[in-house]
Amino acid sequence: MSHLSVNHLLGIKYITKQDIELILDTATNFKEVINRPIKKVPSLRDITVANLFFENSTRTRLSFELAQKRLSADVVNFSASSSSVKKGETLVDTVNNILAMKVDMVVMRHANPGAAVFLSKKVNARIVNAGDGAHEHPTQALLDAFSMREKLGDLKGKKIAIVGDILHSRVALSNIFCLQKLGAEVKVCGPTTLIPKYIESLGVKVESDLRKALEWCDVANMLRIQLERQDIKFFPSLREYTMLYGLNKELLDSLSKKIIIMHPGPINRGVEITSDVADSDQSIILDQVENGVAVRMAVMFLLAGRQ
Ligand code: CP
Repeated sequence: MSHLSVNHLLGIKYITKQDIELILDTATNFKEVINRPIKKVPSLRDITVANLFFENSTRTRLSFELAQKRLSADVVNFSASSSSVKKGETLVDTVNNILAMKVDMVVMRHANPGAAVFLSKKVNARIVNAGDGAHEHPTQALLDAFSMREKLGDLKGKKIAIVGDILHSRVALSNIFCLQKLGAEVKVCGPTTLIPKYIESLGVKVESDLRKALEWCDVANMLRIQLERQDIKFFPSLREYTMLYGLNKELLDSLSKKIIIMHPGPINRGVEITSDVADSDQSIILDQVENGVAVRMAVMFLLAGRQ
């Protein structure tokens, strides 16, 4: 199969196992391309992409822009904080004005869950969800799966623990859908207040003891506490959170096997993970960032139907 079953990448929930495998295999080819001395290919020449970021981003935004430039696309960037959104312009008006300038694809990050789905029904362009509130972050899950596959091979039967603030995490939800479609087992671990009530209905097990979760898994994906999405207190203090759910080198070294450590970033060093763990040889955090470019190249190349 060389075509995606969808016209937009709105979430991992909406794509098939075959779509995921096609994206990861295509990304493997693009990773080889971006490691050549001449990193640019003409695959998206004459395609114009708008990056619309209504929420802050470092990795995702730079990674998409670099991926677009490596593919020779024309790129326009939009930040809500310096736009006419500040004067009251709506999302649809903003996007329609950008599309009037003949844009073919929109990459959008937005604070509202469902914003990308909404947009896909309103405008005539390919939409890529770069994170919508606490809903989905599909390219993060794809680059995470790509990075795990590089280290572990086929993910079928592999055990992945997702640790931390599951309740507010779009990375957790997209990872759960992606890993399960690829046949991996997923456990979540964190304070009860940060585990959504519905999580077991997704076929995910819950473990409240961090050591037990780490002893069980092949990979631990450590998530950031998203204080900016927490309007009430979910745990007594960050210090207590770190004591119970922070991963330090002593705990990592005391495990009976060497596990892989991941983090989507941005890291709160000393909260969910200590610096010596984040920078250890078991950490693949910077591999994730490197792989993000190849995975995003694959997504946009396939959505543009240029294969
Ligand atoms: N992982 C991630 O989405 O990072 P940014 O918020 O910096 O894009």
